[in-house]
Amino acid sequence: MSLPLIGVQRSSSSNVCSVPSGRSTLTPPLASPSPAQATQPSCPSHHASIGVKQRSYIPAAARRLIGTLTLWTGDTLHVRPIRPSDTTRLRNFLAGLSQTSITFRFFACVRTLPPQELSRLTHVDYRDRMALVATTGVSPHDRIVAVGRYDRISLHSAEIAFTVADAWQQHGLGMALLLLLADYARAHGFTTLVAYVMTENTRMLEVLENAGFPLKTIHSDGQIDVTLDISAPPMGQLAPLVLAADPALHRQRRSPV
Ligand SMILES: CC(C)(COP(=O)(O)OP(=O)(O)OC[C@H]1O[C@@H](n2cnc3c(N)ncnc32)[C@H](O)[C@@H]1OP(=O)(O)O)[C@@H](O)C(=O)NCCC(=O)NCCS
Repeated sequence: MSLPLIGVQRSSSSNVCSVPSGRSTLTPPLASPSPAQATQPSCPSHHASIGVKQRSYIPAAARRLIGTLTLWTGDTLHVRPIRPSDTTRLRNFLAGLSQTSITFRFFACVRTLPPQELSRLTHVDYRDRMALVATTGVSPHDRIVAVGRYDRISLHSAEIAFTVADAWQQHGLGMALLLLLADYARAHGFTTLVAYVMTENTRMLEVLENAGFPLKTIHSDGQIDVTLDISAPPMGQLAPLVLAADPALHRQRRSPV
Protein backbone atom coordinates (compact mmCIF):
# COMPACT_ATOMS: atom_id res chain seq x y z
CA MET A 1 0.00 0.00 0.00
CA SER A 2 1.28 3.39 -0.82
CA LEU A 3 0.31 6.29 1.38
CA PRO A 4 1.15 9.72 0.09
CA LEU A 5 2.29 11.34 3.30
CA ILE A 6 3.08 14.66 1.82
CA GLY A 7 1.93 16.05 -1.46
CA VAL A 8 3.79 19.24 -1.99
CA GLN A 9 2.38 21.15 -4.88
CA ARG A 10 4.55 23.64 -6.47
CA SER A 11 5.38 24.19 -9.37
CA SER A 12 46.61 28.30 7.31
CA SER A 13 44.81 26.79 9.60
CA SER A 14 44.71 23.24 8.43
CA ASN A 15 41.23 23.33 9.78
CA VAL A 16 39.93 25.65 7.11
CA CYS A 17 39.12 24.66 3.56
CA SER A 18 38.73 26.96 0.64
CA VAL A 19 35.31 27.06 -0.93
CA PRO A 20 34.31 28.12 -4.39
CA SER A 21 33.00 31.59 -4.73
CA GLY A 22 29.44 31.88 -5.86
CA ARG A 23 26.54 34.19 -6.30
CA SER A 24 23.90 34.46 -3.71
CA THR A 25 20.45 35.40 -4.81
CA LEU A 26 19.67 36.38 -1.24
CA THR A 27 21.52 39.64 -1.41
CA PRO A 28 24.77 40.66 0.20
CA PRO A 29 27.25 39.83 2.91
CA LEU A 30 27.28 38.02 6.15
CA ALA A 31 29.45 37.05 9.15
CA SER A 32 32.12 34.50 9.74
CA PRO A 33 30.97 31.73 11.94
CA SER A 34 31.74 32.11 15.56
CA PRO A 35 34.47 29.83 16.90
CA ALA A 36 31.72 27.66 18.28
CA GLN A 37 30.11 27.38 14.88
CA ALA A 38 33.42 26.61 13.27
CA THR A 39 34.06 23.63 15.46
CA GLN A 40 30.56 22.35 15.94
CA PRO A 41 28.22 21.10 13.30
CA SER A 42 25.62 23.83 13.38
CA CYS A 43 22.65 22.52 15.32
CA PRO A 44 23.61 23.88 18.73
CA SER A 45 21.49 21.41 20.51
CA HIS A 46 21.74 21.38 24.24
CA HIS A 47 19.90 18.13 24.47
CA ALA A 48 22.86 15.97 23.60
CA SER A 49 22.39 12.44 24.73
CA ILE A 50 25.93 11.17 24.52
CA GLY A 51 26.37 7.75 25.93
CA VAL A 52 22.70 7.25 26.59
CA LYS A 53 20.88 4.05 25.85
CA GLN A 54 21.62 2.46 22.54
CA ARG A 55 18.04 1.24 22.23
CA SER A 56 15.39 3.85 21.96
CA TYR A 57 12.02 4.02 20.34
CA ILE A 58 10.80 6.02 17.42
CA PRO A 59 7.46 7.62 18.24
CA ALA A 60 4.53 7.04 15.93
CA ALA A 61 4.62 10.53 14.42
CA ALA A 62 8.25 10.03 13.39
CA ARG A 63 7.57 6.52 12.09
CA ARG A 64 5.20 8.06 9.58
CA LEU A 65 8.31 9.44 7.93
CA ILE A 66 9.58 5.96 7.13
CA GLY A 67 9.08 5.13 3.51
CA THR A 68 10.16 5.31 -0.08
CA LEU A 69 10.72 8.82 -1.30
CA THR A 70 10.23 9.56 -4.98
CA LEU A 71 12.09 12.67 -5.98
CA TRP A 72 11.00 15.02 -8.71
CA THR A 73 13.78 13.56 -10.85
CA GLY A 74 12.13 10.12 -10.60
CA ASP A 75 14.85 8.74 -8.31
CA THR A 76 13.70 6.75 -5.31
CA LEU A 77 15.41 6.44 -1.93
CA HIS A 78 14.49 5.11 1.48
CA VAL A 79 13.81 7.77 4.12
CA ARG A 80 13.54 7.30 7.87
CA PRO A 81 14.31 9.07 11.14
CA ILE A 82 17.92 8.72 12.25
CA ARG A 83 18.62 6.19 14.99
CA PRO A 84 21.45 5.54 17.47
CA SER A 85 22.74 2.60 15.43
CA ASP A 86 23.51 4.97 12.53
CA THR A 87 26.75 6.21 14.07
CA THR A 88 29.09 4.20 11.82
CA ARG A 89 26.96 4.85 8.75
CA LEU A 90 26.97 8.56 9.50
CA ARG A 91 30.74 8.60 9.96
CA ASN A 92 31.21 6.82 6.61
CA PHE A 93 28.82 9.22 4.94
CA LEU A 94 30.67 12.27 6.22
CA ALA A 95 34.03 10.74 5.29
CA GLY A 96 32.87 10.45 1.68
CA LEU A 97 31.88 14.10 1.29
CA SER A 98 33.90 16.55 -0.74
CA GLN A 99 35.90 19.27 0.98
CA THR A 100 33.43 21.83 -0.27
CA SER A 101 30.39 20.01 1.07
CA ILE A 102 32.04 19.46 4.45
CA THR A 103 32.98 23.12 4.67
CA PHE A 104 29.51 24.30 3.70
CA ARG A 105 27.97 22.05 6.32
CA PHE A 106 30.35 22.54 9.23
CA PHE A 107 31.91 25.91 8.39
CA ALA A 108 35.29 24.19 8.63
CA CYS A 109 37.15 21.39 6.93
CA VAL A 110 36.44 18.74 9.52
CA ARG A 111 37.59 15.39 8.25
CA THR A 112 36.18 13.37 11.12
CA LEU A 113 33.90 14.24 13.97
CA PRO A 114 34.70 13.22 17.54
CA PRO A 115 32.77 10.11 18.65
CA GLN A 116 30.79 12.21 21.11
CA GLU A 117 29.62 14.48 18.33
CA LEU A 118 28.69 11.58 16.07
CA SER A 119 26.76 10.12 18.95
CA ARG A 120 24.99 13.40 19.58
CA LEU A 121 23.98 13.60 15.94
CA THR A 122 22.49 10.11 15.91
CA HIS A 123 20.70 10.39 19.25
CA VAL A 124 17.66 12.57 18.84
CA ASP A 125 14.42 12.73 20.78
CA TYR A 126 12.25 13.05 17.63
CA ARG A 127 10.64 16.20 19.02
CA ASP A 128 13.10 18.92 20.09
CA ARG A 129 15.80 17.30 18.01
CA MET A 130 14.90 15.47 14.84
CA ALA A 131 16.91 14.10 11.96
CA LEU A 132 15.96 12.26 8.80
CA VAL A 133 18.29 10.15 6.73
CA ALA A 134 17.94 9.06 3.12
CA THR A 135 19.52 5.69 2.38
CA THR A 136 20.02 3.58 -0.69
CA GLY A 137 17.85 0.82 0.80
CA VAL A 138 16.82 -0.85 4.01
CA SER A 139 19.53 -3.46 4.57
CA PRO A 140 22.25 -2.89 7.17
CA HIS A 141 24.72 -2.42 4.31
CA ASP A 142 22.82 0.38 2.68
CA ARG A 143 24.50 3.76 2.76
CA ILE A 144 23.28 7.08 4.03
CA VAL A 145 23.20 9.55 1.15
CA ALA A 146 21.63 12.52 2.91
CA VAL A 147 20.80 13.87 6.35
CA GLY A 148 18.44 16.67 7.28
CA ARG A 149 17.98 17.78 10.85
CA TYR A 150 16.53 20.34 13.18
CA ASP A 151 17.42 21.27 16.74
CA ARG A 152 15.23 23.44 18.90
CA ILE A 153 16.77 26.84 19.67
CA SER A 154 13.77 28.49 21.31
CA LEU A 155 10.15 27.76 22.10
CA HIS A 156 8.91 27.90 18.51
CA SER A 157 12.12 27.96 16.52
CA ALA A 158 14.64 25.36 15.42
CA GLU A 159 17.95 25.42 13.58
CA ILE A 160 18.08 23.31 10.43
CA ALA A 161 21.01 21.77 8.58
CA PHE A 162 21.24 19.51 5.55
CA THR A 163 23.94 17.38 3.98
CA VAL A 164 23.54 15.54 0.70
CA ALA A 165 26.22 13.23 -0.74
CA ASP A 166 27.96 14.97 -3.63
CA ALA A 167 26.75 12.40 -6.16
CA TRP A 168 23.16 12.96 -5.05
CA GLN A 169 23.17 16.72 -5.02
CA GLN A 170 20.73 18.53 -7.30
CA HIS A 171 18.34 15.58 -7.41
CA GLY A 172 15.79 17.29 -5.20
CA LEU A 173 16.91 15.56 -2.02
CA GLY A 174 17.81 18.64 -0.01
CA MET A 175 14.47 20.20 -0.87
CA ALA A 176 12.59 17.01 -0.07
CA LEU A 177 14.18 16.70 3.37
CA LEU A 178 13.50 20.36 4.08
CA LEU A 179 9.82 19.98 3.22
CA LEU A 180 9.42 16.79 5.22
CA LEU A 181 11.16 18.29 8.25
CA ALA A 182 9.19 21.52 8.03
CA ASP A 183 5.94 19.58 7.96
CA TYR A 184 7.04 17.53 10.96
CA ALA A 185 8.33 20.57 12.85
CA ARG A 186 5.05 22.44 12.29
CA ALA A 187 3.15 19.49 13.72
CA HIS A 188 5.41 19.74 16.77
CA GLY A 189 4.68 23.40 17.42
CA PHE A 190 7.54 25.08 15.58
CA THR A 191 6.74 28.18 13.55
CA THR A 192 10.19 29.14 12.28
CA LEU A 193 13.25 27.30 11.01
CA VAL A 194 16.62 29.02 10.88
CA ALA A 195 19.52 28.08 8.63
CA TYR A 196 23.01 29.52 9.00
CA VAL A 197 24.46 29.45 5.52
CA MET A 198 27.84 30.49 4.14
CA THR A 199 27.48 33.30 1.62
CA GLU A 200 29.08 31.19 -1.10
CA ASN A 201 26.60 28.37 -0.58
CA THR A 202 24.24 29.40 -3.34
CA ARG A 203 22.71 25.96 -3.68
CA MET A 204 21.48 25.90 -0.09
CA LEU A 205 20.29 29.47 -0.36
CA GLU A 206 18.32 28.63 -3.49
CA VAL A 207 16.73 25.59 -1.89
CA LEU A 208 15.62 27.77 1.03
CA GLU A 209 14.32 30.45 -1.32
CA ASN A 210 12.46 28.02 -3.56
CA ALA A 211 10.81 26.03 -0.79
CA GLY A 212 7.78 28.30 -0.78
CA PHE A 213 7.92 29.66 2.77
CA PRO A 214 8.02 33.37 3.65
CA LEU A 215 11.59 34.10 4.64
CA LYS A 216 13.78 36.73 6.23
CA THR A 217 17.51 37.04 5.93
CA ILE A 218 20.22 38.63 8.03
CA HIS A 219 23.52 39.18 6.29
CA SER A 220 26.83 39.45 8.02
CA ASP A 221 30.40 38.81 7.04
CA GLY A 222 30.52 35.47 5.23
CA GLN A 223 27.19 34.15 6.49
CA ILE A 224 23.51 34.53 5.82
CA ASP A 225 20.99 33.63 8.51
CA VAL A 226 17.79 32.56 6.79
CA THR A 227 14.59 32.30 8.81
CA LEU A 228 11.70 30.44 7.24
CA ASP A 229 8.17 31.01 8.45
CA ILE A 230 6.73 27.50 8.44
CA SER A 231 3.57 28.32 10.37
CA ALA A 232 1.58 27.45 7.24
CA PRO A 233 2.32 24.90 4.52
CA PRO A 234 4.54 26.24 1.72
CA MET A 235 3.18 27.98 -1.34
CA GLY A 236 4.98 27.42 -4.56
CA GLN A 237 5.35 25.62 -7.83
CA LEU A 238 7.57 22.67 -7.03
CA ALA A 239 6.88 19.25 -8.44
CA PRO A 240 4.96 16.96 -6.07
CA LEU A 241 6.94 15.10 -3.45
CA VAL A 242 5.66 11.69 -2.44
CA LEU A 243 6.70 9.57 0.49
CA ALA A 244 5.13 6.13 0.21
CA ALA A 245 4.81 4.68 3.66
CA ASP A 246 5.96 1.21 4.60
CA PRO A 247 2.83 -0.30 6.17
CA ALA A 248 4.76 -3.01 8.02
CA LEU A 249 6.75 -0.44 9.94
CA HIS A 250 3.75 1.72 10.58
CA ARG A 251 1.82 -1.09 12.22
CA GLN A 252 4.37 -1.41 15.01
CA ARG A 253 3.29 0.32 18.17
CA ARG A 254 6.83 0.74 19.38
CA SER A 255 9.62 0.23 16.94
CA PRO A 256 13.01 -0.64 18.39
CA VAL A 257 15.86 1.16 16.68
C1 LIG B 1 22.86 22.44 -0.06
C2 LIG B 1 22.28 21.05 -0.24
C3 LIG B 1 21.75 20.53 1.08
C4 LIG B 1 21.11 21.16 -1.25
O1 LIG B 1 20.59 19.89 -1.47
P1 LIG B 1 20.41 19.34 -2.96
O2 LIG B 1 19.79 18.00 -2.83
O3 LIG B 1 21.69 19.42 -3.68
O4 LIG B 1 19.40 20.40 -3.58
P2 LIG B 1 18.09 20.07 -4.43
O5 LIG B 1 18.39 19.07 -5.45
O6 LIG B 1 16.94 19.78 -3.53
O7 LIG B 1 17.81 21.46 -5.12
C5 LIG B 1 18.52 21.79 -6.31
C6 LIG B 1 17.60 22.45 -7.29
O8 LIG B 1 16.47 21.61 -7.56
C7 LIG B 1 15.28 22.33 -7.33
N1 LIG B 1 14.25 21.42 -6.82
C8 LIG B 1 14.37 20.64 -5.73
N2 LIG B 1 13.22 19.98 -5.54
C9 LIG B 1 12.40 20.35 -6.54
C10 LIG B 1 11.08 20.01 -6.90
N3 LIG B 1 10.35 19.14 -6.16
N4 LIG B 1 10.52 20.57 -8.00
C11 LIG B 1 11.24 21.42 -8.75
N5 LIG B 1 12.51 21.80 -8.46
C12 LIG B 1 13.07 21.27 -7.36
C13 LIG B 1 15.68 23.32 -6.28
O9 LIG B 1 14.79 24.40 -6.23
C14 LIG B 1 17.04 23.74 -6.78
O10 LIG B 1 16.85 24.60 -7.87
P3 LIG B 1 18.00 25.53 -8.48
O11 LIG B 1 19.06 24.62 -9.05
O12 LIG B 1 17.31 26.36 -9.46
O13 LIG B 1 18.53 26.31 -7.33
C15 LIG B 1 23.34 20.08 -0.81
O14 LIG B 1 23.81 20.57 -2.02
C16 LIG B 1 24.51 19.85 0.15
O15 LIG B 1 24.48 18.92 0.96
N6 LIG B 1 25.57 20.69 0.08
C17 LIG B 1 26.73 20.54 0.98
C18 LIG B 1 26.39 20.76 2.44
C19 LIG B 1 25.63 22.04 2.64
O16 LIG B 1 25.84 23.02 1.97
N7 LIG B 1 24.72 22.03 3.63
C20 LIG B 1 23.92 23.17 3.99
C21 LIG B 1 24.33 23.67 5.36
S1 LIG B 1 23.08 24.73 6.04
